Amino acid sequence: MSKILIIEDEAAIRRVLGKIISNESESFEVEEAEDGLVGFQMLEKKDYDLVLCDIKMPKMDGVEVLEKTQKIKPDIPFIMISGHGELETAVQTMRLGAFDYISKPPDLNRLLNAIRNALDKKQLVVENKRLKKKVNLNYQMIGDSDAIVAIKKMIDKVAPTEARVLITGNNGTGKELVAHWLHQKSNRSNATLVEVNCAAIPSELIESELFGHVKGSFTGANKDRAGKFETASGGTIFLDEVGDMSLSAQAKVLRALQENKISRVGNDRDIKIDVRVIAATNKDLKKEIELGKFREDLYHRLAVILIHVPSLNDRIEDIPLLIDYFSKSISEQQGISQKIFQHSAIELLQEYDWTGNIRELRNVIERLLILGEDEISETDVRLFASK
Ligand SMILES: Nc1ncnc2c1ncn2[C@@H]1O[C@H](COP(=O)(O)OP(=O)(O)OP(=O)(O)O)[C@@H](O)[C@H]1O
Ligand SMILES: [Mg+2]
Repeated sequence: MSKILIIEDEAAIRRVLGKIISNESESFEVEEAEDGLVGFQMLEKKDYDLVLCDIKMPKMDGVEVLEKTQKIKPDIPFIMISGHGELETAVQTMRLGAFDYISKPPDLNRLLNAIRNALDKKQLVVENKRLKKKVNLNYQMIGDSDAIVAIKKMIDKVAPTEARVLITGNNGTGKELVAHWLHQKSNRSNATLVEVNCAAIPSELIESELFGHVKGSFTGANKDRAGKFETASGGTIFLDEVGDMSLSAQAKVLRALQENKISRVGNDRDIKIDVRVIAATNKDLKKEIELGKFREDLYHRLAVILIHVPSLNDRIEDIPLLIDYFSKSISEQQGISQKIFQHSAIELLQEYDWTGNIRELRNVIERLLILGEDEISETDVRLFASK
């Protein structure tokens, strides 16, 4: 649906325009305003996709409506309707940012063309903004709790060094986010960050995945292939869920870290690697070492710097900021309207037991944005955020 507002004081012209437009397509939804002031008030309250605006009108003329709207909603295209002898003003409005103008009496083809072009352009602009925001928003780290402030400071200090970092913390606390920041703020940020989810790779494949293989080294290896360590050369490798790696894979990773050398499966030739290693786990590696499931020597190689990301329950003071951030970013991404969270709703969310941490909070906010009322209340939280 494209919402089109016609601001025109001459009732006859307003009606003709309205008819032409709504007859043209079922996806055009037309509203009318009888003067500039009313039109501007409607623009303040509601989002339109396009405005057709007369120039000469009582109370507020078209130029003023255009200028004022641009200050609050710069993305809405304006097509000016110019009366006899107003051509110069019409041209002037295009310098002010109007998309196009049509003359009275309106020519049908010219009008519909201008409308289609303006709507196409509006969609492009919105889409572009959405994409740009998405890129920027992807990796923000929100929070002003002591814990988050300390982590950010730590990242600033550690990132530019070559030190290996082990990130610990429960599910969904933001370990991957910390890894991305470490890479982004490092001197290797122009090279790639290669992520390996060690838990997702079957143990018999992990060696070839990490170190590559040569053709014929095992069934199915029908050509030479570089592994993740080689691909990450010059950059960073992120060994996610490192606590889930098999003991035999651990032995091989240990060698790579000790000697900065690897060899592909099926070939003894050493390949030198220049890779910064960041690892993460939600397991208690000290305990895993006691149980004989994780190599102590590998632990010491990985954990030169330790960053622990605390659970959300231990930093509930961050919840209001996170709600605000997710409400904004999710509504942008999904093209739905942002919602206000009542104070009591936020407080109730702070009382929850967030076992799934930030990931769970994000899901709950998304659910509330989709299912809740325009203003999210305690009732919405009880209805849609219960677990
Ligand atoms: N401080 C934060 N500010 C904003 N978003 C965050 C923050 N921390 C985490 N997130 C978001 O929460 C989600 C989960 O974070 P992430 O994947 O980094 O967690 P994780 O600790 O790696 O989880 P898992 O142990 O399940 O792999 C992601 O969408 C991430 O962008
Ligand atoms: Mg993760």
